[in-house]
Amino acid sequence: MSEFPRVRPRRLRATPALRRLTAETRLHPSELVLPMFVREGIDEPVEIGSMPGVVHHSVDSLKRAVEEAAEAGIGGVMLFGVPLEKDAVGSGATDPDGILNVGTRAAVDAAGDALVVQTDLCLDEFTDHGHCGVLAADGSVDNDATLARYDEMAVVQAEAGSQLIGMSGMMDGQIGSARDALDAAGFGGTALLAYSAKYASAFYGPFREAVQSSLVGDRRTYQLDGANRREGLREVELDIAEGADIVMVKPAMSYLDVLADTAAVSTVPVWAYQISGEYAMIHAAAANGWIDLEAASAESVLSIKRAGADAILTYFALDLAKRLNTGRI
Ligand code: PBG
Repeated sequence: MSEFPRVRPRRLRATPALRRLTAETRLHPSELVLPMFVREGIDEPVEIGSMPGVVHHSVDSLKRAVEEAAEAGIGGVMLFGVPLEKDAVGSGATDPDGILNVGTRAAVDAAGDALVVQTDLCLDEFTDHGHCGVLAADGSVDNDATLARYDEMAVVQAEAGSQLIGMSGMMDGQIGSARDALDAAGFGGTALLAYSAKYASAFYGPFREAVQSSLVGDRRTYQLDGANRREGLREVELDIAEGADIVMVKPAMSYLDVLADTAAVSTVPVWAYQISGEYAMIHAAAANGWIDLEAASAESVLSIKRAGADAILTYFALDLAKRLNTGRI
């Protein structure tokens, strides 16, 4: 009988033990970040229809959920605020008693040293027009006027105890500007997570329901065009030059090429955000019995890690962490 083929990659796939020993990538709870919503004016958690298992938290339920996340060993939480009132400049974002800042103080209190409390820095949840910045007289998003609002927001979030500020608004110069504002206010130790390559995506749909977004139209004048791979890298390089402590690619699954490019060149940690629509579609297919929820969610996050993410923001974070902790992944 012929000896061919002598090279048999299947040898290393033969048993679970061999597969485990030769796995190139593995997940760990400490590199997962759970995005969470804290909503003004509620006493009990409220479910978000398009995101099964994700809720709007009251300040109290947020604290309990942060404790649960810490117990599961996840690396951090990323907080988003859902205010009762919105206005043209997003005043709630810079009010120390605004819901995101109140929630941040509560989360920091609940977390102790167990995980990193992070905050989303963007105006879209707080503006009545739903854009990520303030508007110029002609209705366009005014980049430099928005930077001034972001700077103020950064300082208020740092005062509330945020340890890592997620700059998600896609204004030019936002990282350098916020860095200067934080340093000038004595918050040189507060780190900046740059949502560097953030693409204008249809997969944000469920999030916009979750934050009760008032947006009419789209964000294509500031978020990246999905056609552009090289431009994603350009944004990453600019943010690193401006002082970003971490850079991020978002969404994750439709942009794994951009993520791999970024991981190949970045001198700072590279994160990715598996966004609401990515989560929702896995749930929807599973609810129809078309895919297995546990297997598909684990595989999706593993693929993001494999493409080059050092840490991953995902709504599956708590579930994955619990399964990792009990050997079910
Ligand atoms: C902006 C922001 C968005 C998300 C995170 N930060 C929404 C947007 O750009 O429209 C989306 C997150 C998700 O879809 O899960 N504040």
